[in-house]
Amino acid sequence: MEFRSSVFDKSWKRSVYCGMVSGEHEGKEVVLNGWIRKRRDLGGIIFLELWDYTSIVQVVINPEDVPRVHEIAKELRSEFVVAVKGTVRKRPYGTDNPSMKTGLWEVCATDLILLSPASPLPFELSGSTDKVDENLRLKYRYLDLRREKMQKNLRTRYQLNMFTRNFLDSKGFIDIETPFLTKSTPEGARDYLVPSRVNPGKFYALPQSPQIFKQILMISGLDRYYQIVKCFRDEDLRADRQPEFTQIDMEMSFITEEDIFELLEDYIQGLFKDVLGVNIPVPFKRLPFTEAMDRYGSDKPDLRIPFEIVDLKDIFSGCTFAPFRENLDKGGFVRGIRLKGGSALSRKGLSLIEERAKALGAGGLAAFQLKDLELKGPLVKFLDDSRKEALIQKCGMDNGDALFVMSDPDWSKICNVLGQLRLELAKEHGLIQKESWEFLWVVEFPLFEWDEEDGRWTSVHHPFTSPLPEDFDLLETAPGRVRSRAYDLVLNGNEIGGGSIRIHDPKVQENVFRCLAFSREEAMNRFGFLIEALASGTPPHGGIALGVDRIAMLLSGSTSIRDVIAFPKTAKAQCLMSSAPSAVSDNQLEELNIEVKEKD
Ligand code: AMO
Repeated sequence: MEFRSSVFDKSWKRSVYCGMVSGEHEGKEVVLNGWIRKRRDLGGIIFLELWDYTSIVQVVINPEDVPRVHEIAKELRSEFVVAVKGTVRKRPYGTDNPSMKTGLWEVCATDLILLSPASPLPFELSGSTDKVDENLRLKYRYLDLRREKMQKNLRTRYQLNMFTRNFLDSKGFIDIETPFLTKSTPEGARDYLVPSRVNPGKFYALPQSPQIFKQILMISGLDRYYQIVKCFRDEDLRADRQPEFTQIDMEMSFITEEDIFELLEDYIQGLFKDVLGVNIPVPFKRLPFTEAMDRYGSDKPDLRIPFEIVDLKDIFSGCTFAPFRENLDKGGFVRGIRLKGGSALSRKGLSLIEERAKALGAGGLAAFQLKDLELKGPLVKFLDDSRKEALIQKCGMDNGDALFVMSDPDWSKICNVLGQLRLELAKEHGLIQKESWEFLWVVEFPLFEWDEEDGRWTSVHHPFTSPLPEDFDLLETAPGRVRSRAYDLVLNGNEIGGGSIRIHDPKVQENVFRCLAFSREEAMNRFGFLIEALASGTPPHGGIALGVDRIAMLLSGSTSIRDVIAFPKTAKAQCLMSSAPSAVSDNQLEELNIEVKEKD
């Protein structure tokens, strides 16, 4: 049969969505519009699973009742688009399917037209995608989005955005758009640059965030701003990072951290109730950065994991094991993590864990196992009985547990290695409490971090973050010890938001630029407009930006933000569907006064 699409006139417009067919339509004529998910030909009678975003309904085509429709239906294939007229009836006894939304009903077709055929599918649209190569899904994203899970994810994301708008509106925020063609905004990533045709040799930068503009809006007296806004960062991509992503960006005047915490806790509570029907207890825990690193080895700790890093300095100081003693003598560290049930690990299993620790930068990892109430392991001989007992007590080891101990002179390294191991071991041994939502604020981040490569201080957040007033003096003497008024919002080990109270005093801002080794000229060149604006009557202000993609990922139970973005990029920042980025014509380059060099 040659496929010829029929004309879609108003007599074929749907009277009910597929997933809405129910008892109220019994015996009535309905018109359905949708895609054929599956067609089954049971020796005469043809069954179609007709799909639209609401769900699937079964259509029955009996050759005896509607021979012409049956002829057409014989040629239909998956994902053809059709309009169907028919009568709703209860499925015959024993053929109903309670797991299906419309599983008690079927539509007995009286007429059908083909609206559009479909090429053979590159992958199945029903069921899980786990077995489908993600690149194939991204190339045929229009088909991938027709799957139930993706439809649900995009609607969850929409619900998140709608809740956000309504909530912020009710709190007096207004939505103000800030420019995309702008100057570099310092969030620590590389910029995406856009050449200006009318200003040859000059470039706009796409915003890494609307940071500077939202501060200026506060200076302009707008009081409470928000925006659900695209941000652009040219950085290494991972499951939770995209080159263009969306923030819920907000800023408020005449506030302190407490106002932000209270507002956001109220927001999160409402959001989780609205989307998931879950009660989130508030206030959230607050953890200074240093404590988060000490206890969890991460600035975004996953509090669903029921074990922490334990400081073992007391137990190992004075012990006879030289590498540990030497590190401790140099002011270094000995710390460990307990693994519940870890005494079942074989010698090989233990050494694989040590190899992983080494790959993460550890010099070594000593394992202990508590078997038959006796502590075993290569380092046991260096511990007397009271130290052994103290070790078991301090780490809360039960019979059957293992303990991994590391020593290092470098605080960041020991935190990072043990923090990473904590995550990996908890995941592998099923120790993460999956059903819980663990929120916390991480506060008191350092204001600066030392950049070895450039040999200078850089901002941990961005250069407009206020130092803690009690650390102002350290700006001159010990920049590395200055704490900031920045805060991150963390959920189940994901950084879902970050913000700060800003510097509103131009003098402090200049001091911070000086610490960052920006010359006055450089600072004026990059952020001169903000510096000038700060001197024109600036209210104390602060704000936060939440990652929409990450929150939508968590709300929808996805493991990658790509699954909640309609058209995401790959790890190489490519869109496999549209083939962006792509080469442009010589004419376009000429107009832009740009020459492209071959890369070696
Ligand atoms: P920050 O850089 O912490 O803060 O970003 C805020 C939140 O945005 C999300 N996020 C990302 N999501 C996906 N892909 C990315 N590449 C990506 N980068 C960041 C995270 C993060 O917590 N201007 C400040 C906010 C402020 O100070 O008010 C800012 O952009 O969830």
